Amino acid sequence: MTAQTLERPALAVEGLEGGYAGSVVLHGVTLDVRPAEIFAILGKNGMGKTTLLKTMMGLLPARRGRVEVLGADVSRWAPYRITRLGVSYVPQEKSIFQDLSVEENLRLALRELSEFAERLDAVARWFPILKSRGRQRAGTLSGGEQKMLLIGRALLTRPRVVLVDEISEGLQPAMVTRLREVLMEERRATGLAIVLVEQNVDFALALADRYAVLKVGAVVETGRTADAGARESVERHLVL
Ligand SMILES: Nc1ncnc2c1ncn2[C@@H]1O[C@H](COP(=O)(O)OP(=O)(O)OP(=O)(O)O)[C@@H](O)[C@H]1O
Ligand SMILES: [Mg+2]
Repeated sequence: MTAQTLERPALAVEGLEGGYAGSVVLHGVTLDVRPAEIFAILGKNGMGKTTLLKTMMGLLPARRGRVEVLGADVSRWAPYRITRLGVSYVPQEKSIFQDLSVEENLRLALRELSEFAERLDAVARWFPILKSRGRQRAGTLSGGEQKMLLIGRALLTRPRVVLVDEISEGLQPAMVTRLREVLMEERRATGLAIVLVEQNVDFALALADRYAVLKVGAVVETGRTADAGARESVERHLVL
């Protein structure tokens, strides 16, 4: 890897404004995430975390500002083009096909089916339960298993950047631990950059290198999770 590619952010957002018809939610969000970095976006309910991810992904229009992925300005791109550039998105709402099998859900993520067997092996390494339930209807999986399926599906395509919206919510501790291991291992093995929207401060701080706190659609604080006082500072923002 050259110095230039190391310096180029995996994801950069600058002065981003966006929201819904008639309501501006994001008021000039600026942040950047480097390759192989895990970046947590924290904030209370309704502060604009999901809106930010959806705008990054092209699912909501950017009214002002820019979103860059691996140096390309994707601000006006359709979601499928952003996906093809190497961005995976794990939405907050359940988005698996309940009536299809686990394997069918995974297969739909891939454009190149010749790779499927090999990628299915990767999923089996991450979450063995998904392999053993391959032919089972996805809607019959437990809530936690469905989240494993969502993450498996997002990682299947070998993304460069993955955006994950509140994956730890409602998960049992053992599953949270496994998720953390998988995400850290993929980051180490592939240089994947991970943007993690979370309300679980413990999970976010244990996993992330850096964080930003979002309040009413604006970044009010950023820092390194290893910094002394990071937790106190984040928690203060989450109660006030
Ligand atoms: N489809 C929508 N149409 C209009 N306004 C919306 C829509 N979805 C969300 N909002 C509003 O946008 C603001 C930000 O919502 P958003 O879902 O981005 O927050 P969030 O930080 O992800 O919250 P949570 O932690 O509850 O998921 C809120 O005021 C919300 O009511
Ligand atoms: Mg949300």
